[in-house]
Amino acid sequence: MPTPLIAGNWKMNTTVQEAALLAGHLRGSLGGVTSVEVVLCPPFVSLAEVARAVQGSAIKVGAQNMHHEDKGAFTGEVSPLMLLGLCQYVILGHSERRRDFAETDAVVNRKVHKALASGLRPILCVGELLADRQAGREEAVVTASLKASLEGVTSPDGLVVAYEPVWAIGTGLAATPQQAQAMCALVRRLLAGQFGREQASALRVLYGGSVTPANIQELASQPDIDGGLVGGASLNAAQFADIVRTTVSVRP
Ligand code: PGA
Repeated sequence: MPTPLIAGNWKMNTTVQEAALLAGHLRGSLGGVTSVEVVLCPPFVSLAEVARAVQGSAIKVGAQNMHHEDKGAFTGEVSPLMLLGLCQYVILGHSERRRDFAETDAVVNRKVHKALASGLRPILCVGELLADRQAGREEAVVTASLKASLEGVTSPDGLVVAYEPVWAIGTGLAATPQQAQAMCALVRRLLAGQFGREQASALRVLYGGSVTPANIQELASQPDIDGGLVGGASLNAAQFADIVRTTVSVRP
């Protein structure tokens, strides 16, 4: 079984000062935790400060997005070359990027290739809309999205996949542990189909969408859920620490 992972997606929250403070708090409470990998994903402008705040501890840092080219005329974008040295992970294809910035599976696929080639570990997000689930299409949608996002990938070392049903993100309405397990098991079967069973069982599959201290225990107890991608609750140091500690107790 792979080491579980809990990642905090801070989204467009925290000033540089607030980010450093939050990272400092988390370093104090979680800096020595090694049985669960902890990853903080602040906004780009705070990556350097957060990296400094957790330096020398077990906590890792991630970006929330990146461009698929190393450099060039892409105003406002941030490249993998710029991220190297600041962070180890990068969230790719989050539903908010797909919804608000028109990121397609094809674009996400380019980013995944680039991240892996650059030595950054992608946290690739996939998940269905409420309408998809209501129509019973969740498996078909996630299958198509994951396959397209991973097209042509042959060496997935470091890849993390986060199953995030869009209807559960920021709504307080998390998937049930059974729903989350079923979809994470599907993700793992798809990974096994592409990379082989052994490789697939070594990759982390996370659940994301309204993860809280109250529901993480049951979620992390599921056989195919190797941790969580946490949004809202990751901005509260006590709640995030609680989520990590509960995961440690479930998956020692
Ligand atoms: P949430 O966000 O925990 O606030 O639902 C999760 C995410 O968007 O990654």
